[in-house]
Amino acid sequence: MFYVTTPIYYVNDEPHIGHAYTTLTADALARWHRLLGEETLFLTGTDEHGLKVQRAAAANGITPQEQADRFAVRFVEAWRGLGISHDDFIRTTEPRHHRAVQRLLQACYDRGDIELGRYEGLYSVADEAYVTADEAPELERQGRQVIRMEEENYFFRLSRYEQALLDWYEAHPGFVQPEIRRNEAVGFIRQGLKDFSISRTSIDWGIPLPWDQRHVTYVWFDALTNYLTAAGYGSGDPAFPVRWAGARHLIGKDILRFHCVYWPAMLLSAGLEPPQAVHVHGFLLVGGEKMSKTRLNQIAPASLVETFGVDGFRYHFLADQRFGPDGEFTFEGMVARYNADLANNLGNLMARVAAVVASKCGGMGPAPSPRSPLAEAAARAYEEAAAAWGRVAPSEALEAAWRLIREANAYLEANEPWKMEPGRQVEAVLGDALEVLRLVALLASPAVPGAAAEVWSRLGLAGAPEEQRLPAAAAWGGYPGGLPVRKGPPLFPRLSA
Ligand code: MSP
Repeated sequence: MFYVTTPIYYVNDEPHIGHAYTTLTADALARWHRLLGEETLFLTGTDEHGLKVQRAAAANGITPQEQADRFAVRFVEAWRGLGISHDDFIRTTEPRHHRAVQRLLQACYDRGDIELGRYEGLYSVADEAYVTADEAPELERQGRQVIRMEEENYFFRLSRYEQALLDWYEAHPGFVQPEIRRNEAVGFIRQGLKDFSISRTSIDWGIPLPWDQRHVTYVWFDALTNYLTAAGYGSGDPAFPVRWAGARHLIGKDILRFHCVYWPAMLLSAGLEPPQAVHVHGFLLVGGEKMSKTRLNQIAPASLVETFGVDGFRYHFLADQRFGPDGEFTFEGMVARYNADLANNLGNLMARVAAVVASKCGGMGPAPSPRSPLAEAAARAYEEAAAAWGRVAPSEALEAAWRLIREANAYLEANEPWKMEPGRQVEAVLGDALEVLRLVALLASPAVPGAAAEVWSRLGLAGAPEEQRLPAAAAWGGYPGGLPVRKGPPLFPRLSA
């Protein structure tokens, strides 16, 4: 089972390209694993409780539930607009989630890992987390509000889990990827862990603790549990263990501590295994800074889709931003990459091949030659792409597919089929190029599902790339020949800079 999750997004904010980046990466991965014939569950959703949402609602003059309903729809719509293929969309205000959170709380409580205490100190509203006096000035400089809080809280005894977590990390070297993030998490654990508060009495927008209704669950304890809820935890669903065993979380580096320290400890406490892996990526920066409401530098996905189309949007963020380090987004960079990779490389290959098939082969696509000089490049592209998707490196997977496109274009230029007389020779060259297009449609389909389906149908193939199964469908020679090839308008019209 391949179970991939995104963070659940707060409903106090509009979806922006940073949120889209994580969701898109999860989407492309899910699509790749479906192609491999794996049973796949892809989860995203919204984080709807807590002080931040309660305050946003108050500022908008509506109830927290109205705030949540209004903004959850924005995320649903944003993902629809990007062709996101999630299997489930979780909202933390759903009854199934209440049940799962209460069940997890009870399990940790029964284990003796939750105890009553008092908290007095500083709290960052934007981060929904207590902060130290040392951290406060920097947060305030970033425009994040820090307030004094004093209340009775239940605490999760995280300090008891130091050794268990270090042992877990030792036994599961791939738990947090990339390595640099793993080291960060281990370093954090080694510094010594403090118990963390898991309940609030100062707000009521949350899930009550099962044994003490005066308290609502701290938003992070509540939020992290969404991954269990959607796998069927607490519902008696017999498929839960299988789903949970395949869980992989995709997150931004901002929420590493919660996912890589708190979460595995909570799970161990409840007698559950931590997930397979947490894949951590960097930030998408705009003008060198992280997007935020206060900096007014957020970009809505829809505004770019207008110019670049859904596939143009998807391709850009998957190919341009390496999964791991921070990356700078610029509009000019997006235009340049679109023109180079989509309008020129892929678009030209399709257009040229269809034109020459029309002029030299009466519009019927010939079959590839079994010992084509391109066969080896195609096999290499598949191997490299498969390995890259396997290590959650979409930009490298796409680079492998685009290398094959460039090789096919070079092969056409070297052979100049447009100058050849109709006959066996021109058929061999075009058959090979059509086969490359078929393979590229498969390899690129997780990133550009619309364009991949269009290429597939222009080649005269039945069905769609997503109905194929890898690795069988990637074997050289799958294009049968004898199919009508359609020209059609440019796949990706060129954009002026
Ligand atoms: N609600 C919590 C997560 C709970 S998960 C159990 C939260 N929500 S959030 O709305 O603030 O979204 C955070 C996530 O959005 C990041 O971890 C990252 O996946 C994505 N991004 C937000 N801004 C981003 C960038 N500028 N760049 C890349 N991703 C970013 O935290």
